[in-house]
Amino acid sequence: MTSEKLLQARRRIETAYSPEAVRQLGTRLAERLALHLRQVEQGQGPVLNWRAPEENIAAAHRTLDGDVPFSHGIGDGPAGGADGLVPRFEQLIETALSRCQNLHHPGYIGHQVPASIPIAGLFDALGSITNQVMAIYEMGPWASAVERALVERWGTRIGLQPGEFAGLITHGGSLANLTALLTARNVVLDDVWERGLATGTGESGVSEANERSASLSHASQTATPAPVLVAHSDAHYGVTRSAGILGLGTEQVLRVPLDDRRKMDPERLDELLVRLRSRGVPIIAVSACACATPIGAFDPLPEIADVCARHEVWLHVDAAHGGAVAFSERHRHLIDGLPRADSFICDAHKMLFVPALCAFVFYRNPKHRFETFRQDAPYLFDPSAPGMAEFDSGMVTIECTKRAAAYGLWGVWSLFGPELFGDIIDVTFATARRLYEKLEEAGDFEALHEPECNIVVFRYVPNAGPGRDLTDRELGELNRTIRRKLMESGEFYLVQTTLDGIGALRVTVMNPLTDETHLDRLLAAIRRTAEEILSQG
Ligand SMILES: Cc1ncc(COP(=O)(O)O)c(C=O)c1O
Repeated sequence: MTSEKLLQARRRIETAYSPEAVRQLGTRLAERLALHLRQVEQGQGPVLNWRAPEENIAAAHRTLDGDVPFSHGIGDGPAGGADGLVPRFEQLIETALSRCQNLHHPGYIGHQVPASIPIAGLFDALGSITNQVMAIYEMGPWASAVERALVERWGTRIGLQPGEFAGLITHGGSLANLTALLTARNVVLDDVWERGLATGTGESGVSEANERSASLSHASQTATPAPVLVAHSDAHYGVTRSAGILGLGTEQVLRVPLDDRRKMDPERLDELLVRLRSRGVPIIAVSACACATPIGAFDPLPEIADVCARHEVWLHVDAAHGGAVAFSERHRHLIDGLPRADSFICDAHKMLFVPALCAFVFYRNPKHRFETFRQDAPYLFDPSAPGMAEFDSGMVTIECTKRAAAYGLWGVWSLFGPELFGDIIDVTFATARRLYEKLEEAGDFEALHEPECNIVVFRYVPNAGPGRDLTDRELGELNRTIRRKLMESGEFYLVQTTLDGIGALRVTVMNPLTDETHLDRLLAAIRRTAEEILSQG
């Protein structure tokens, strides 16, 4: 490299690292975000800025190519460089804001991703800009401390005994379920971590491995039946995916029948476990829900825990959505029995309303967290200070480098106190309940269940005009078309689902700013959209 080129490189780097640039651009960003939130939170503009993926990808390429010249200022030294960056920085922010999903719009009532508490994002930025990471305590001492304290606080609030349990934070509910089920697999199958599934619990070699991969129907005829995972029939797809990743096989997930409120039926669970135990089938875990994704049904955990205890089976609970009710006096009864689970997961980036991703795994027995990965990594974990491994997150998480995922949660909890989380749960659950009542009062809507939380599934069922005599299939199609049109219009963002084979609309109140007036507008918008669709034939 010529010395001139090297000099240029150094100047560009200097601008990129300029504290003055952080100050200037940070101030602009904060001002622009405040304006954006002011508008969006009042319902101005669309919820989703709908554009086809191809169009957005092309636009993304244009920004990467510098659709405005991006040489201004670069190389002029830190102060001049920062000034020069402002116009392009502002343009990039405008591009992002004009093409995003506006979760803070009260018409956002879609997936289980919240209109996050905006201030939490500022704490996340603190962690990101200073690049606090974990794996080992030394790399992110405050991030590690915050994580440990939050695990202790949330677990205790759920009902675990202080000092007698363990937990960790990972990148999302799917990874959290996988981590906990991996732990269960390793504990239940003893030396599987070292020897692999193919060698199984017996003495065996290849022929036995083949037998072990046979389906349950063949299991009773084999020496060592293939292990199974027993799951809620409505379990999140990540649970089945975990069975695939863990080498159990997705077909080895046995579904427990549900009762008429889509909750796991403890009696049917008991019958299934009796059958499996009598055949000597290894059971990795029973995976229950608090709550299940489709309609937000909370399983009867005390009864399920009794059944699992009777059969000495590991109980795992996916409380990704519902674990947060521990913060609400009014709703915490929904997770009675959760502390009896061997493992469970809770997503802070769902009902604690912090930005993604911040998922917690809890183990009732603190020793179990070291069963997930029984590995030595001498370059990371220092044998001269063995006690420190206790605080090294890399010992217990799939991630090696892990971002400071809990900064947002730690920040808002410390600023507002945990009451804020209870407030948001109470308000969003009450809004969902109000929606249900409105659906029940209306003659042309059908609520498909009584909500236990902030999830409501329903259908528009025209009771007059051309839509009056639609078949179930046509009704499902009509509801799906309504939702697509509403989404593309930007008026509301809700989702579609299928319940009992028929299309339906699904609302999750994930924005505490959504209120009754928005619900009235929603029902009116659905009726209007249906009329337009039906009048076009
Ligand atoms: C019950 C349940 N478990 C797990 C997940 C997956 O969580 P994540 O999206 O954080 O991976 C979801 C997502 O909605 C869920 O509803």
